[in-house]
Amino acid sequence: RTLDGHGGILLPGLVDLHTHVREPGREDTETIATGSAAAAKGGYTAIFAMANTDPVADNASITDAVWRIGQEVGLCDVHPVGAVTVGLAGEQLAEMGMMADGVAKVKLFSDDGKCVHDPVVMKRALEYSSGLGVLISQHSEDPRLTVGAVAHDGPIAARLGLAGWPRAAEESIVARDALLARDAGARVHVAHASTEGTVELLRWARGQGIDITAEVTPHHLLLDDSRLETYDGVNRVNPPLREDRDKMALRAALADGVIDCVATDHAPHASQEKCCEFAQAKPGMLGLETALSIVVETMVRPGLLDWRGVARVMSERPAEIVGLDDHGRPIAVGEPGNLTIVDPDAEWTVDPDALASKSRNTPYAEMTLPATVQATVLRGTVTAE
Ligand code: NCD
Ligand code: ZN
Ligand code: ZN
Repeated sequence: RTLDGHGGILLPGLVDLHTHVREPGREDTETIATGSAAAAKGGYTAIFAMANTDPVADNASITDAVWRIGQEVGLCDVHPVGAVTVGLAGEQLAEMGMMADGVAKVKLFSDDGKCVHDPVVMKRALEYSSGLGVLISQHSEDPRLTVGAVAHDGPIAARLGLAGWPRAAEESIVARDALLARDAGARVHVAHASTEGTVELLRWARGQGIDITAEVTPHHLLLDDSRLETYDGVNRVNPPLREDRDKMALRAALADGVIDCVATDHAPHASQEKCCEFAQAKPGMLGLETALSIVVETMVRPGLLDWRGVARVMSERPAEIVGLDDHGRPIAVGEPGNLTIVDPDAEWTVDPDALASKSRNTPYAEMTLPATVQATVLRGTVTAE
């Protein structure tokens, strides 16, 4: 059948390096099926499912199951991210090689939700990964600096009486892991960069020839800690919403390539886990269905990126970083492709109840956002329209 994309913008299928689907373990908040539907609606044809499930995705039987279920659902390629270490407090390295060799061909490893606390473990993980040619995504937060922290450590948190999460918690680990990656000859990817200082460290590390890449989330591009005044738990996220100057530095870094790509950190939570007091709310917010619109709002409208740039930061660069070969490259005539058609002039108002995600924790409820996804196509099949 024929799709009429007339007047729309044709993009390569979007690729998200950072999605939490809660299967296995919290299927009441998201499943691979509902997460795939949300991804397709948001214009994504590939997502990387983070490892902090229950049980943790730290072995090939789990990572292969995630991939297989995603293929059965058929709305989006769901690439499992493997845990670097075994279990939740692991000091022992996971069998990354077995996960990389499985049917899921795991390309990205992470200890998400908790960074590798022990620098010796991180050093060994990077050495091991360099032999496999795979990538480690590091969550870049020093747990000793974030004990009890719920909000960015700045004047607003101080005034509201919220325990502060300092920039140094992130920046010290970005610096540590850049240096460890240099020594190991490994590749490291910085998840959800959130501070001005992280941008400076990335620029420095690149200048040294270190093989480091980085992502920024839509919410760190659009929102800042002025949102905390309402104490609404929907705004609690890790890393926390920072200050205006961090937000502006992240936008500029994405525009000039110091930050490679946008990743959603889509983090579904049950309503009862988000509606309580700010400090009790679980960290994380939805992202898949609003990411493209937020990038248009924060990057395209102010003239920081054109649509070519959107294709780069939301599809081509993330695909290159993990070595996906079926995304973001020219498609020959007759070849089934991964595509997203966007209406750049449409606007829509976010209705949490209308989302395909199983959860409702969007910080953009009632906001009017630019650009809609008209259709998403996965290997020639329409997955959303
Ligand atoms: C993540 C989640 O919900 O899985 N939440 C988040 O705020 N990014 C876990 C985490 O990184 O804390
Ligand atoms: Zn995280
Ligand atoms: Zn995350």
